[in-house]
Amino acid sequence: MVEGVVIASSGGAPSIFLRNITKAYGETVALSDVSLDLRAGEVHALLGENGAGKTTLMKILYGLTQPDSGQIEADGVVLKIESPRDARVAGIGMVTQHFSLVKNMTVVENIALATAKTFSLDLDSVRDAVVAASARYGLEVPPDAIISSLPIGLQQRVEILKALMSGCTYLILDEPTAVLGPQDIDSLLGAIRRLRSDVGIGIVLISHKMAEIEKVADRVSVLRRGKVVSSSLANGITTKELITLMVGEQESGVVSRPERQSLSLGPILVLESVFVKLELGGLKDVSLDVRPGEIVGIAGVSGNGQTELVNILSGTLSIDGGAISVEGTKLAENTPQSLMRAGVGMLGEDRHASAVHALQVAENLVLDCVDDFSSRMQIDRKKVLDHCESAISQFEIKATAKQTFGTLSGGNMQKVLLARLFSRKPKVAIISQPTRGLDVMATRYVRSLIAKARLDGTAILLVSEDLDEVLELADRVAVMYRGSVIGIVDGADASRESIGELMAGIVR
Ligand SMILES: Nc1ncnc2c1ncn2[C@@H]1O[C@H](COP(=O)(O)OP(=O)(O)OP(=O)(O)O)[C@@H](O)[C@H]1O
Ligand SMILES: [Mg+2]
Repeated sequence: MVEGVVIASSGGAPSIFLRNITKAYGETVALSDVSLDLRAGEVHALLGENGAGKTTLMKILYGLTQPDSGQIEADGVVLKIESPRDARVAGIGMVTQHFSLVKNMTVVENIALATAKTFSLDLDSVRDAVVAASARYGLEVPPDAIISSLPIGLQQRVEILKALMSGCTYLILDEPTAVLGPQDIDSLLGAIRRLRSDVGIGIVLISHKMAEIEKVADRVSVLRRGKVVSSSLANGITTKELITLMVGEQESGVVSRPERQSLSLGPILVLESVFVKLELGGLKDVSLDVRPGEIVGIAGVSGNGQTELVNILSGTLSIDGGAISVEGTKLAENTPQSLMRAGVGMLGEDRHASAVHALQVAENLVLDCVDDFSSRMQIDRKKVLDHCESAISQFEIKATAKQTFGTLSGGNMQKVLLARLFSRKPKVAIISQPTRGLDVMATRYVRSLIAKARLDGTAILLVSEDLDEVLELADRVAVMYRGSVIGIVDGADASRESIGELMAGIVR
């Protein structure tokens, strides 16, 4: 229940105050005496390194978790927010990184479920309301589509609409752009601006991408190790100052592509005229090779075959024609086992799917090679823990060996998965969206790990929606368009413009 205790009438624009919030998980102090003001009609960006406490703070505001001490006030009233329902009653909505939509129901049905109190379960009237709200907020959605058939950008719009139609005045978006391609990002930023200016919604935007913050934020707060180190108007602070506030006065070098090595060795991974037939998408006549010590970057607008390419190389999607060879040997079938045996390692795009949240960090690190840590059918726990301790120090993971994987911050999850990949010393590494959701320093660190693996002779196929990342790291850039490789450009000659044209299907 939301219990109101009137403190004072604030007057003016409505505001929410988080006061002296402290929250610890065992030894980890996630938030320490944090105070933050949010105003309606303002975009408030919340920045900070991976593990700084951003999600925890917003989960407290949305009633998903309780603080150890501190309180939340709105318009002079102390709010007791013990559940998301309490938060919604107080006008607070949140779109978390894991959507809570019912996948086999339609857009309208999902919104009807969430707003059952506001609307009767008369689906026609809910449908009308969805169409009207879509238009009002500039968030177009197909009302009768089944959620699972929608691309992630549209599912996210449904989540946002759901929150807005539940009547929220404040909307928390936790790294909404981390899962979106460039076009979807622009349209989301447009919607955020409209919600702020036209509807007067107060938005909390958590993001690691400074360019987005520059585009939409009115106010910026920086969390560092559970404390607010700065809260100011966006136009009063530069991006460089923000980065320094986030990470401290560390040296901030950019990873530059190391000198090209003479690649005397022949290709180790070869795709020859690979076809995958699917109702939607698929692959058409894809030929590609990667040599040891080379990074081949895959660029393209999302949905042009990149996911299928990664899936055939992880063995979760079988090929319908053509061949995949590793070290000169054609794979009879592209199953996960045969690929792994051939020395192909994988960092998948969805870090949640490739780990078991309920297991410890140490256990997750050995998931795909338990045999190496067992003798006589018994897992050698000491060996597992030692392996984990060394990975934690080598990969600078902020976690303990016995910590449950699901409680790690996004950046640290990614580091664990990279540690798992590289500690197996794969001959070929397929790496998909490696820095999605990572902070500035973690991004640099992950990119340097990839560059180092290249120098160690690993053949790397890097799939990324972040064109800057591809241009920074790749020796060659292959551009995918409608399921085919439309062009391959030498890294030294690749520019945003030349790659951009290929991405749009223009071949000169
Ligand atoms: N349920 C939990 N149990 C134990 N520790 C937790 C739990 N939830 C969060 N933590 C810890 O609290 C700290 C803050 O985590 P939080 O998820 O808020 O970080 P964040 O700023 O959102 O990071 P990211 O940018 O990576 O998403 C981290 O050290 C994290 O490991
Ligand atoms: Mg977070």
